Amino acid sequence: MNVITASDSIKYARELSVVIPTYNESENLPILLGKLKEVLNGIDYEIVVVDDDSPDQTWKIAQQLSNENERIRVIRRQDARGLSSAVVTGMASSNGKVISVMDADMQHDETILPDMYRAIAEGRCDICIGSREAPGGGYGDWSKSRRFVSYTAKALAYLALSTPIKDPMSGYFALSREYFDRTIDRVNPSGFKILLEFVTRGDNPRVEEIGYRFRNRIYGETKLNATVAVEYLLALIDLRFGWLIPNRFVKFGMVGVSGSIVNFLGFAIASGLGVSVPLAVFIGVQSAIMWTYFGNNLFTFSPIRYRGMSYLRGLVLYEFASIYGLVIQLSVVTTIITYWPTVNDYLGLKYMAYMVGVAFAALGNYFIHTNYTWNRLGYKLAMPVRS
Ligand code: GDD
Ligand code: MN
Repeated sequence: MNVITASDSIKYARELSVVIPTYNESENLPILLGKLKEVLNGIDYEIVVVDDDSPDQTWKIAQQLSNENERIRVIRRQDARGLSSAVVTGMASSNGKVISVMDADMQHDETILPDMYRAIAEGRCDICIGSREAPGGGYGDWSKSRRFVSYTAKALAYLALSTPIKDPMSGYFALSREYFDRTIDRVNPSGFKILLEFVTRGDNPRVEEIGYRFRNRIYGETKLNATVAVEYLLALIDLRFGWLIPNRFVKFGMVGVSGSIVNFLGFAIASGLGVSVPLAVFIGVQSAIMWTYFGNNLFTFSPIRYRGMSYLRGLVLYEFASIYGLVIQLSVVTTIITYWPTVNDYLGLKYMAYMVGVAFAALGNYFIHTNYTWNRLGYKLAMPVRS
């Protein structure tokens, strides 16, 4: 990450930093920077463009603009991707006493930025949100589906975190340097919900919302997609229960649940084809192993996944770990039944004993996968290609 630790005299050199994350915004960025120059007249500001090596060369256009204007700085990241991490990178390298973030596509109304700046600079709040839900705010003409997605995301945030914020999904906000410094170590920079991170990880920030009407995009397209939605759900679970359950275990559990369905389907189909019961069980288990290995490799352990030829070596390690899980499950269930034989008399209790066995096996497998199948030791043994 491009973190710049400057001496204090440089660190607070500006009154306001405007961090602008960009990905394929070459048409929008120059227009936005022109507009910012007008509205920020009278404020000592800097602009930090963080571009993730856009194929349309937004970084190049930004660099040209920064040659003509010393208020503009450009960070071109070739080693990292993602909206929230771009925002955090830009913030960490910024110089302003007030730090703000806005989209490059002019969907965020720049005319309220000076008000947002003043709300912080005058000490009225720690975080000021450009809000579509505050008086004067609105969503513009959004499709029904986009409205639904936004509404659901907001409702989930409210349910999970009981935040009183009206527009917790906003990507348009400002915060004070002090609040940033106090909170940044706890922020998880993934996905699209960086504001939620700053609000919930901090120490009861004073929040103000200023209304604005979300505009339509003229050039380019949105980067919000299904992956972003899944990441959002995971992030909510992490924000709520992160102190208890690591996010990776939640992913592992999701893959595991899908695996038990595959296990059952494999067994059912094989039995349906007239295969003997032990073989059908074996087919079910093997389908589940292949499936969950694929899923965990791609999803749970994505940053350190096995690729190419080492994919098969990973599978071999995974098979061994699965035998270990099976042994745990068997021993837990037999132990329960030995010490508490009445379990045998009730189907409900039998199922519960089975589920307890599954839970222990999941924990054991998780432990072995994080420490062995996908870890440094596994790395040495199986040499996965790391990205
Ligand atoms: N550097 C970088 N890297 N920038 C990115 C990336 C990335 O991976 N993905 C998106 N951006 C930039 C875009 O170029 C744009 O300037 C801004 O981040 C927001 O992306 P959009 O694709 O325009 O998002 P949106 O308009 O659909 O989503 C808006 O609403 C969301 C939910 O209400 C934004 O305001 C989001 O911030 C907000 O969370
Ligand atoms: Mn946008």
